[in-house]
Amino acid sequence: MAELMTVEKISGGLRGEVKIPGDKSISHRSVMLSGLGSTPVRITNFLHAQDCLSTVACLRALGAEIEFQSEVELMVTGHGFHGLQEPGTVIDAGNSGTTLRLMMGLLSAQPFFSSFTGDASLHRRPMGRVAKPLSLMGAKIYGREKNTKLPLAIVPAEGGLKGVYYDSPVASAQVKSALLLAGMYANGPTTVKEPFVSRDHTERMLAAFGVPVERQGTAVTINPVTAEDYKAPEAIEVPGDISSAAYWLVAGVTLPGSKLLLKNVGVNETRTGVLDVLEQMGAKVELFNQRVSGGEAAADIRVEAGPLRGTEFGVEIMPRLIDEIPIIAVAALMAEGDTVITGAGELRVKETDRLAAIEQEFGKLSPGAVEATEDGLVIHGGRPLQKARCITYDDHRIAMSLAILGAAGEGVELEHPDCVNISYPAFYGDLARLSKA
Ligand code: S3P
Repeated sequence: MAELMTVEKISGGLRGEVKIPGDKSISHRSVMLSGLGSTPVRITNFLHAQDCLSTVACLRALGAEIEFQSEVELMVTGHGFHGLQEPGTVIDAGNSGTTLRLMMGLLSAQPFFSSFTGDASLHRRPMGRVAKPLSLMGAKIYGREKNTKLPLAIVPAEGGLKGVYYDSPVASAQVKSALLLAGMYANGPTTVKEPFVSRDHTERMLAAFGVPVERQGTAVTINPVTAEDYKAPEAIEVPGDISSAAYWLVAGVTLPGSKLLLKNVGVNETRTGVLDVLEQMGAKVELFNQRVSGGEAAADIRVEAGPLRGTEFGVEIMPRLIDEIPIIAVAALMAEGDTVITGAGELRVKETDRLAAIEQEFGKLSPGAVEATEDGLVIHGGRPLQKARCITYDDHRIAMSLAILGAAGEGVELEHPDCVNISYPAFYGDLARLSKA
């Protein structure tokens, strides 16, 4: 593992084509739902990165058979809707909040004991947002800090789970998905209402498994599911991850002389906030070859360098771009004028406190240009950039955003750069290739 890596200033821009790696959220869900089927599912364009491999290990520990045909193609065969087996050891979710929270939902509904651990970052993250509503359904979840932090354990709920109506205080696809997965096994309908609609990949994929989820405004409802209802599809094709494409969108717009073609980007409208914000900032981004694959919208995207202006956005759009705030902050630093981001308090409980990390580390490259507020950022764009040594906090999205800011500015030295393996192992390779084209 490299301890330190230098990303040099890239003067000639980025050119060429990037095949965007598979969507992380959809890859997780494809393995989990396939693991509940009784027939084999072929998953293609799977994201072969640490977070999704945590989910693979987890489903294997529960008895699902998972065979890799290549890095990005796998066959998953479950033992049926009631066929998960008690894991013989502690389930390790690694760095992955999605693995942990969704599995807490699924395993709350199983008639066996399970326990969870993860890395240091995951031990700090709040799990009460999932444990609390699951407990309202009757789940028995125990853990540190009043059952809200890892390590956690789940004991079978006597008499099973009951359906609930839950008015969630956070717009979180992880909370919603955990309750939908548990709700499949409950004794009545389960409804989750959120303040704003979060990504709907679980709902879409459940439909492909014969499980309807009804939507009314910002609420979704699932009814109890029987083993006969649950029918695994033969194949799931995972579209590219717009959260990974976002690094190239911003690099393409901000590095002078750039012209990039991003192939196979998922453009599900619950995820495309970054496109809306970049458009608001004046970016030249063009979607074409729009299609639907595996129930999800996908497109190719052309992007080229051009001037940006500062912008403002807030809580309403947040679920549609929550993971893209660090790279949007890079765009804001390269723009003319100020950018004001509000309603982003959730960033304080991601893999690291991303608002603090952005203020600290981006501030080393553009001194005084970033102020973190309680729930957002104020970014003064167009200021001079300098080279500096930065900490990634072992957060993949902070590392990739710093790399693009360094390439657009005067270079950067990154401590612990390898954390990109969480979601985009080929990131530095793609950056080097595109800068030579
Ligand atoms: C995810 C949901 C989001 C997102 C995370 C992946 C998912 O988290 O930030 O990277 O796959 O459901 P929240 O549900 O906490 O908003």
